[in-house]
Amino acid sequence: MMFSIPDKPKICPVCGAEPSLPQSDDPNEIRMRCGGGGGPDPQFARWSLWLDEVLTFKQMVVWDKGPMGMGWHYRRSYETVLVAHKGQTCNWYDDTKKVENVIRPHTLGIRKIIPNGAQHPTEKSWQLAAHFIKLHSKEGDTILDPFMGHGSTGEACVRLGRNFIGIELDETFYNESQRRIAEAQLQVQMPI
Ligand SMILES: C[S@@+](CC[C@H](N)C(=O)[O-])C[C@H]1O[C@@H](n2cnc3c(N)ncnc32)[C@H](O)[C@@H]1O
Repeated sequence: MMFSIPDKPKICPVCGAEPSLPQSDDPNEIRMRCGGGGGPDPQFARWSLWLDEVLTFKQMVVWDKGPMGMGWHYRRSYETVLVAHKGQTCNWYDDTKKVENVIRPHTLGIRKIIPNGAQHPTEKSWQLAAHFIKLHSKEGDTILDPFMGHGSTGEACVRLGRNFIGIELDETFYNESQRRIAEAQLQVQMPI
């Protein structure tokens, strides 16, 4: 089968790379070649495409968690955050013009949480949520986290003066989130 190479290269919306292979006219073809995330399955490439069907895909941000310990083949030392928006424009409240699509290790107060048996298995540092909340919302706005987990987004909202709606399937995690958010509220009201 012959492919013609278009004058203007298509850019992969997931990773931003310019593919070096000849391209077909199928707009999905380039996207499908992109892994777009860690792990053996290109989950994040698929999520980006699904997301783009209902929202407008803006960027994939990589959180570089820093070096991992020893382990098996291609240790995953990053996580991806998909940013999308509803409607034509994406709210943006940073004027430094320095925000990158990579969050470097040990920056912004974000720490890697290694859970013990009693903790939520994928808990994130509240500062990670805070980074995105500050970029895309202002004080008094309402943030929804439909997969609340241990409530890190809720804690970030309390500390940043945003309203928060959280949804969580697991009752134990839900209760733990409630406790954590209440504790953050106390700390904000009575800073030590
Ligand atoms: C990846 S964790 C979120 C971790 C969270 N960001 C934190 O820092 O703790 C996803 C959570 O979504 C919850 N969950 C999964 N499916 C759900 C659903 N359909 N409705 C509500 N919660 C759900 C899981 O129980 C899990 O706690």
